Amino acid sequence: MYSVNLNNLTRQQFLDEYWQKKPLLIRQGLANFEDPITPDELAGLAMEEQIESRLVSQIDGKWDAQHGPFEDYSHLGETNWSLLIQGVDHWDENVDALLSEFRFLPNWRIDDVMVSYATPGGGVGPHVDNYDVFLIQGSGKRSWQVGSNEALKEVIADQALLHVEAFEPIIDVELNPGDILYVPPGFPHQGIAIEPSMTFSIGYRTIAKSHLMSGLADYLIDNQLGKEMVVDPDRQATQTPGLIDETDINNLTNSLKDMLSNDAVLTDFYGQHLSSAKHELAIDEDLVPFEISEVLDILEDQPLNRLGGLRCLYFSHESALASVYINGEKYTLSDSLTTPLRLLADTQSLTQELLSPWLEEPEFMALLIELINLGYWYFSDPE
Ligand code: SIN
Ligand code: CO
Repeated sequence: MYSVNLNNLTRQQFLDEYWQKKPLLIRQGLANFEDPITPDELAGLAMEEQIESRLVSQIDGKWDAQHGPFEDYSHLGETNWSLLIQGVDHWDENVDALLSEFRFLPNWRIDDVMVSYATPGGGVGPHVDNYDVFLIQGSGKRSWQVGSNEALKEVIADQALLHVEAFEPIIDVELNPGDILYVPPGFPHQGIAIEPSMTFSIGYRTIAKSHLMSGLADYLIDNQLGKEMVVDPDRQATQTPGLIDETDINNLTNSLKDMLSNDAVLTDFYGQHLSSAKHELAIDEDLVPFEISEVLDILEDQPLNRLGGLRCLYFSHESALASVYINGEKYTLSDSLTTPLRLLADTQSLTQELLSPWLEEPEFMALLIELINLGYWYFSDPE
């Protein structure tokens, strides 16, 4: 549906030269781009409790940021404000489809599509993000400045708005529909709408090392692992009771290293942790459970789609060969079913053709039905 051209670079050339290194302006990266969602639809989403939204304005030089949900917008004027919504890929199929062109990075590295609507003069101000982002210009025009990645002083513009001090731009451009600006983490940037304008931000995520550690600690505790005490049966008498000596340090550090060298434990932790959805999933609450025969019938004419924002991951590590991690849960089937399990993770849309070798495998079909009945895979039009 979409086709992204990264200035005629191959995906790998883009990764080698720009990814996490320097910003890139991509004129007409998405030629003939049309907004996959309207400003009105966006305003409707921001009225929902479970959707993360923000209204940012700058009136007479004073910044203000409010978190949604919002009940009405009638107090807002025609200029200097912006509405931003996280995880729109979870709620809108057409926005989710945008991600297909950005999956040359793996699922676990993708965060979400944030969409903003800004009136002339509107924007969130100068800031630094700690993640990579492709800013796709939708309808309207926005001017963007990007600075170099030197350290800048942070400024609290409002309780819910962290800015940085003014920066010297290394990129200063006006974006038109279909233009894309790639900004790596740490590069200050700001966009200011010239006309009522939509921006679609493909955001990637990674994790702070400290959070990786604390996530692992939580995993170990939840799974009753690593409960063995650090012991010292070979203790020698000391003359310097205040000292923690090298032997003790090595003993403590080796205990940590022991846990970090257990591949099966780490794989399971990564699978659970990285497959958990970051924003609420739009699970159909009125879902009527499907039977296998109905699924086979509908598959004749329609593909099964993966729910927007659902993370589905697998490993090539031996301890997880016939397993797939979906939204924080591990699902394991017989070794012979590794291929269809991987299909669930690598493909957004499952057609009858793709699934045909396994449609009569009871074990695989039982899992597929379970996933459909959890609302994780769906038919756009279940008839
Ligand atoms: C915006 O869409 O206005 C903000 C996007 C960003 O700077 O990351
Ligand atoms: Co930003």
